[in-house]
Amino acid sequence: VIPVILDCDPGHDDVFAIWLAAGSPAIDLLAVTAVAGNGTLEHTQRNARIALTVAGIADVPVAAGADRPLQKELSTAEWIHGDNGLGGPVLPVPTVPLDPRPAIDLMTDALEASAEPVAIVATGPLTNVATLLAQRPYLAERIREVVWMGGATGRGNVTPYAEFNAWVDPDALAMVVGSGVPFTMVGLNVTHRALVTTSVRERIAAVGNRTSAFGAELLDFFCSTNAAVFGLPDGPLHDPVAMAVLADPETVARVFTRLDVELAGAETVGATSIDLDGMLGRPANAHVAVDLDVDRFWDAVVDAVSALA
Ligand code: BDR
Ligand code: CA
Repeated sequence: VIPVILDCDPGHDDVFAIWLAAGSPAIDLLAVTAVAGNGTLEHTQRNARIALTVAGIADVPVAAGADRPLQKELSTAEWIHGDNGLGGPVLPVPTVPLDPRPAIDLMTDALEASAEPVAIVATGPLTNVATLLAQRPYLAERIREVVWMGGATGRGNVTPYAEFNAWVDPDALAMVVGSGVPFTMVGLNVTHRALVTTSVRERIAAVGNRTSAFGAELLDFFCSTNAAVFGLPDGPLHDPVAMAVLADPETVARVFTRLDVELAGAETVGATSIDLDGMLGRPANAHVAVDLDVDRFWDAVVDAVSALA
């Protein structure tokens, strides 16, 4: 069982990453930390608490972290996730409280209390993780690996070549990759295969618990905005794919290669340059997801939702 801290910006797909972590027997979810991204921090921390409340999880602390990227101004994604970051269902008042500690203090306490190295799964901009590593580099040895949803080996989803999480805080991405902590990028090249087809929506709705009912409403909204914005009626459910790397490692194939991120391009800020063919001759620094067992992935998601309230 792998101890995990989930750093996220819920966000519809982040909610499914929370549920996959909480419902998977392979993962011990120690803490959830929120960052500004899909919505403002006020919304993302609250939405994380709502996700746990709906799923009946009362013993996982939730703390709020950075309310803006390291250097850039904050850009949010209302056009996909709605004004509150979680458009669709009527949102309950969360019964899970907001932990008074800043996110990096909760992360620190969780890392120091764990007998084993802890994996950090990040499904938003990497601002909190970069801040942790910059301010407390001695904690790196307690981090087993960082698995991040973001980037792409090809095209982007917010500019032609930048994926949203990379584009919101590219400086944080560069710092985390440069930290030397083992790093996995789960980018659009694989998450665009995790499509919420009609049959996937039906399978999740058919689980028949409170989590699945709320989840089905989330997916309806998420698919409608993906259809409107990208012409993708079967929206790609990005974030749980990063969690699947730990929940069921057979699901995602990775290669060890070179990852760089564009920090200063006129048109390409936030683009990830993945040197799959070794053209640059630089040392490999990241595991990059290149393939997804789609059926196995959805089985893991459905099993996790089934294990919740
Ligand atoms: C990523 O951006 C966010 O909108 C999603 O939650 C996901 O983390 C996809 O580009
Ligand atoms: Ca996210």
